[in-house]
Amino acid sequence: MGQPKILLLGPPGAGKGTQSSNLVEAFGVEHVTTGDALRSNKEMDISDLGLEYDTPGEYMDQGELVPDEVVNAIVEKALTSADGFVLDGYPRNLEQAEQLESMTDLDGIVSLSVSEDELVDRLTGRRVCDECGENYHVEFDQPENEGVCDECGGELIQREDDEEDAVRNRLDVFAENTEPVIEYYSDRADFVDIDGEQSLDTVWEELQAAVEDTV
Ligand code: AP5
Ligand code: MG
Ligand code: ZN
Repeated sequence: MGQPKILLLGPPGAGKGTQSSNLVEAFGVEHVTTGDALRSNKEMDISDLGLEYDTPGEYMDQGELVPDEVVNAIVEKALTSADGFVLDGYPRNLEQAEQLESMTDLDGIVSLSVSEDELVDRLTGRRVCDECGENYHVEFDQPENEGVCDECGGELIQREDDEEDAVRNRLDVFAENTEPVIEYYSDRADFVDIDGEQSLDTVWEELQAAVEDTV
């Protein structure tokens, strides 16, 4: 079996990060995620680009998109060094989708659909590992020991952009910028839409089957 190149699309809170971890384990692919990459570089000095803010973190904490030139460079570098991958969090607008075409050929595209009310519950209840980035939920996906990561023993924290105001803004930014991207890919023969509101296990079963079909 080869190493698939998978694009995982969906709104904030759809389960992209959670299901990407499953893909990494089952298919041995790399998890390429702009959100995590930017979070580890929140204080990076981008003042020489002459943009509105001087660091990625200032965009992120408000739920705004980090400018394309910053994000495109991160993805290009990560994809060049990956054999198979699951790409999560990119592209988020049509300009980024166009960039991606020039970087790689995808084997499969999966979109996770979830209603807005459910997304707000998921995001405000999400907890993430401070060390390894693993996702949990206070109700839907609890760790064995409260506040402690099952994978690495790290501390579980709440992301700054998971406060309700930032969550609402992220959902607006998604509707305006990223829904057109999903629309754009939905015409492709290898596009698969999965109901992301099902249980974690059911979503995973359907995702695994969709990825197996591509290899
Ligand atoms: P990013 O980190 O990518 O955040 P996001 O897209 O908003 O997505 P999330 O990580 O919030 O959601 P997810 O789909 O991964 O859900 P998860 O699996 O955690 O981006 C953050 C910021 O970085 C952006 O706002 C922007 O500023 C910047 N950025 C990133 N990429 C960029 C780009 N390309 N261009 C410009 N800027 C960019 O699940 C959520 C919760 O739900 C968890 O608690 C989980 O346990 C739970 N859950 C998951 N699935 C289920 C289920 N089936 N049932 C019940 N609960 C579930
Ligand atoms: Mg994520
Ligand atoms: Zn951890």
